[in-house]
Amino acid sequence: INTIGVLTSGGDAPGMNAAIRAVVRTALANGKKVKGIRRGYSGLLEEDIFDMDAYSVADIIGRGGTILYTARCAEFRTEEGQKKGAEICEKHGIDGLVVIGGDGSFQGARKLANLGINTIGLPGTIDLDIACTEYTIGFDTAVNTAMEAIDKIRDTSTSHERCSVIEVMGRNAGYIALWCGIANGAEQILITERYDFDEQAIINNIIEKRNKGKKHYIIVNAEGIGRSEELAKKVEAATGMEARATIIGHIQRGGSPTCKDRVYASMMGARAVDLLCQGASNRVVGYKEGSFVDFDIQEALSMTKDIDQYMYDMSRKLSR
Ligand code: F6P
Repeated sequence: INTIGVLTSGGDAPGMNAAIRAVVRTALANGKKVKGIRRGYSGLLEEDIFDMDAYSVADIIGRGGTILYTARCAEFRTEEGQKKGAEICEKHGIDGLVVIGGDGSFQGARKLANLGINTIGLPGTIDLDIACTEYTIGFDTAVNTAMEAIDKIRDTSTSHERCSVIEVMGRNAGYIALWCGIANGAEQILITERYDFDEQAIINNIIEKRNKGKKHYIIVNAEGIGRSEELAKKVEAATGMEARATIIGHIQRGGSPTCKDRVYASMMGARAVDLLCQGASNRVVGYKEGSFVDFDIQEALSMTKDIDQYMYDMSRKLSR
């Protein structure tokens, strides 16, 4: 490997900058050249490629977002787009590529690997919905941001003796909702993976808790379920308790990364470069059972994971 390219793709996540910094500085420490690619696969196809040195990544470890910008690219899903991408890598001398993103981004990385570009994927998403890993870059910051927001909503919800339906991100996955639901002591946690759409049961529970003297009722609702406004209106109509819906939204994707996101993203970035220097390709880095590991991308993409049942059952008991 002579030149390592790095790009971020899909939704941004706090900690991506720490990963980019680690890729650049580990590559330089190994005597490699580094090229940054802006706006993911879109920027690759537009040849928005520039040389990076140690100073290109100075003062970024504490910043949210991604200095490389990011995009979702439809053209790169086509065979033509992928061939063009591989040719552009070759033209710029990029023989190793680190792709920081989610499952969709890894599909692209796998295609490039098949076309002869050595690629390594790093799991970057706030959603934690990548099966091969127990940690994804950005999740820790996102849940902490959402947790703080929910604490604030809880204050006003208590003062007004209201029900608050709070929708958190996660696409189809309920990890952010479950973690926040536990951390915020929510009365209900609705996650895509377990929701039975029994709104009457929720309403009955609100009435029961109010009769026992509860002054507020917090429902943390996963984005994959959605319809938070609708649920708030139904609750208000059925219980007489004032209800408000809050969709926390993109605040969860920004902000300065937590210590964990900075350190784990740095470890993953360094490992990606080490793998490339050892001649590996078509791998994705993950974190399992206390260690950083790596898998074949195809194998990683075929894995599935589910919410921890013990954690879910515990959350139900604690919210009684
Ligand atoms: O994948 C990260 C994520 O924030 C999801 O939680 C959410 O569903 C999606 O991206 C939102 O995407 P966009 O920023 O394109 O609206």
